[in-house]
Amino acid sequence: MIPQTTRSTASLESHTGLTSLTEITSSPDPQEHYARLRAQWGPVAPIEIERKDDVVIPAWLVLGHSENCHVMRSEFDFSRNAANWRWNAENLLPAGTAIGTYTPAEPRPTAFYHDGDERKRLREPLDDALAALDERVVRERTTDMCERVIDRMGPSGSGDLVKAYCRPIGFLAMTTTLGFDLETGAMLMADAAALVSGDGDQVAQAQANTAAIVLEHIRQRREDGGQDLVSYLAVHKNFAHDGEIASSAIVPVSAAAIFLTAWITQTLHQILADRSLAARVAGGRLTLDGTLDEVLWRRSPIAQSPAPRFALTDMELGGHRIRKGDALVLAIAAANRDPAVHTGDVWDEVDNRSHLSWGTGPHACPAPRLARLIARTAVDQLLRHMDVQLTGSPGDLPWASSAWVRHAERLPVTWRAADHGVGDAAATPQRAPG
Ligand code: HEM
Repeated sequence: MIPQTTRSTASLESHTGLTSLTEITSSPDPQEHYARLRAQWGPVAPIEIERKDDVVIPAWLVLGHSENCHVMRSEFDFSRNAANWRWNAENLLPAGTAIGTYTPAEPRPTAFYHDGDERKRLREPLDDALAALDERVVRERTTDMCERVIDRMGPSGSGDLVKAYCRPIGFLAMTTTLGFDLETGAMLMADAAALVSGDGDQVAQAQANTAAIVLEHIRQRREDGGQDLVSYLAVHKNFAHDGEIASSAIVPVSAAAIFLTAWITQTLHQILADRSLAARVAGGRLTLDGTLDEVLWRRSPIAQSPAPRFALTDMELGGHRIRKGDALVLAIAAANRDPAVHTGDVWDEVDNRSHLSWGTGPHACPAPRLARLIARTAVDQLLRHMDVQLTGSPGDLPWASSAWVRHAERLPVTWRAADHGVGDAAATPQRAPG
């Protein structure tokens, strides 16, 4: 049955009883929520981003694949600069919201928060620095990091794999690529945990700590030099001052490390829990890269982009009247499974990268290659060195509480040093739970 769609000309703020974004992202089945919203509202639906002191902060959730592409590609209709958000312009945001810390009324000096020429000026150094990175060096450093973390796990044991492996690798591989030493990387990891806490005060404190550490690091790297991202950023001609460099480096330290952790966790979760996936990997019918792609399609670690857009004019989108100043949240996980583009056949996803897990358009992720290199190395190294078994039922695992990022909060497992030889590590069928 084709669902009936109720189209509305009502203003965003007039809707009541909205579904909370965090509730969707951390529910056992977000796709069910997306399908329900699609059936009720069409490809764009009103939702609650956050609630503070009984004030509901609403946004349009963009569910459709083509609507997401349109918004992502039209920076002069949909701005990244939160000064254009009505809730900032009219001073409506309650104090201490988490969303307020990601959507400052004064945009920070990074491509993330700018449009047009200013975005280009600030984005170019990131693209150049990423292009200058030697992937062989990144792989060696990531492998080394994985081996250290695996050594620390001991020859056998049990516990939470997210805490023991996925999170330390997601963060330390990222901070090492930025040139931080391990001790500082661990401090940044602690601050980043607060960034997804949903508590505005904690987020602000963590952002201030991270900014101070990054600024100091820029000064050191400029003097010492090195083969890392911050060393390349620190000497780029486009930057006017260290505050711009720091803002550019903070996105990888915080958001990127969180999404890397989520991608590694989601991939290991699927390999450990899904017998058919494990069998396809073990039988050589699916490579590790294919598995990583399948996760980006079906279980995107980035459920919603944490960078809302702000409408610059009144317009229509997905059958709704969008008013100038409205916020739009991009539901990447919904777009990837939009029935208009997603056939449901897993083989259509292999080598097909038209999913939106890297975004598209002028703000698309600059680092899919780097992210893949780190995630592939992390998954491969664990499975190469350890036999890991999920304990308990995969269906009972709690999901991280976040509006943006999706992964199991914990992966309870047992592990023991692998007795298979070094080969294609992912090809070990005994990892599927019996
Ligand atoms: C699994 C890992 C990652 C995922 C899923 C991911 C996803 C994304 C997506 C979807 C966007 C676009 C957001 C939008 O247009 O609304 C984005 C932007 C960005 N990503 Fe990533 N990313 C990942 C890892 C990384 C890494 C490792 C870096 C390191 C440098 C990075 C740096 C950035 C930056 C700087 C932007 C903003 C670019 C701009 O606004 O011009 N990301 N990322």
